Amino acid sequence: MSCYANTFQQLDTLLTANRQYWQFVPFADKGFAWEEQHPEFCDWLASIDDQTLVHLNQDQQALIDAFTPWIPDVALLAKLAETSRLTGSEYVYPRNFDAGIPGRKWQQITAFNQVLPRLGVPWLEWCAGKGFLGRVLSVTHQQPVTSLEWQQQLCVDGEAAAKQLGLDIHFVQGDAFDVSSQQYIQPKQHAVALHACGDLHVSLIKQVVAKKGQAVSVSPCCYHLIRDKQYQPLSSGAKASKLQLSKHDLRLPLQETVTAGNRVKQLRFVEVSFRLGFDLLQREVNQTNDYLPIPNVQKALLGEGFEAFCLWAAEQKGMTLPDDINFDYWQQLGEKRFAITERMELVRQLFRRPLELWLVLDRVCFLEESNYKVTLGTFCEKQMTPRNLLIHAERM
Ligand SMILES: C[S@@+](CC[C@H](N)C(=O)[O-])C[C@H]1O[C@@H](n2cnc3c(N)ncnc32)[C@H](O)[C@@H]1O
Repeated sequence: MSCYANTFQQLDTLLTANRQYWQFVPFADKGFAWEEQHPEFCDWLASIDDQTLVHLNQDQQALIDAFTPWIPDVALLAKLAETSRLTGSEYVYPRNFDAGIPGRKWQQITAFNQVLPRLGVPWLEWCAGKGFLGRVLSVTHQQPVTSLEWQQQLCVDGEAAAKQLGLDIHFVQGDAFDVSSQQYIQPKQHAVALHACGDLHVSLIKQVVAKKGQAVSVSPCCYHLIRDKQYQPLSSGAKASKLQLSKHDLRLPLQETVTAGNRVKQLRFVEVSFRLGFDLLQREVNQTNDYLPIPNVQKALLGEGFEAFCLWAAEQKGMTLPDDINFDYWQQLGEKRFAITERMELVRQLFRRPLELWLVLDRVCFLEESNYKVTLGTFCEKQMTPRNLLIHAERM
């Protein structure tokens, strides 16, 4: 068993054993999801004040330390999810080569380019956008680039920029999922995909394997953007796993708490507590225990207060509310439930990166099983992009 397969197995075992702590929808429950099995844990969670909550959300190590006494496996899970930083060559780009490329994107593409080996074969850029990455690949490696992109306008813009820079880049407008796009995947080629969402990068990996492509480098993102209802495992280990991942589960790796300003925080508090309060009210009126999702709301409506929100939400759902509702009571319950939901999300945060590694290692192991030598690591700091993992595979 390879080192990656071994890590995958350990992650799989621990994620499966602890799935009660991350594989649930916080809104589905009226209170803590573990109230019956772990009442003391729930009391402790409820006692976490708002300031500590913010701190724990921002400091991963503090979060792990705080929860280890309750969920001992989180320390090992965090260790298993550690990855090393990939190293490579520093390149110097021609003056003004970054013109028209947003600053952060420029940092990402140059960091990505830096860690790729020089194989001396043509490039295929999958889901290229305007082909920012293709430009740096072309100028540093002096090899032709084919850039496949779905949006016609991005192809037109990308082609024009490449022409102006005198680069050998050819854009193809096409659907990555369509069989006609498979013709662009060639055996003597290095295929790359930077932040091609969910099934888009998986389709590239599968096609490269099928075509016995020489090399593929992928930085995955948006794991939940899949065409099936459930995650479709790739490797033998993942296929044998007891874990079944829904789209909701697959969103977890992307749910990093960002530090929002006070205004944004307050708006979120109002909206989420209104939604949770209305949900408790509708459960009572409809005599149900199921969460009722409500469509997006115009922010101005939130300013009109909880009662106006409930009347609007009821109308959206074709519900008639009784006349004698004590809206203050339900609003307060919604606010209490908001605090509970935030603390449940905090628990899920512990499993965010381990689940991401499980998903990424599934791709890695699939490539290994398909006769590829694989390297996995980060290509840039988290501040540049939280989706900083890069899988590089070369056919053996
Ligand atoms: C997140 S962007 C990444 C773009 C580029 N790789 C980058 O990092 O700047 C994903 C790109 O995939 C393209 N895309 C989405 N669905 C596609 C499909 N079915 N076939 C080809 N490209 C697609 C989008 O239009 C978009 O440009």
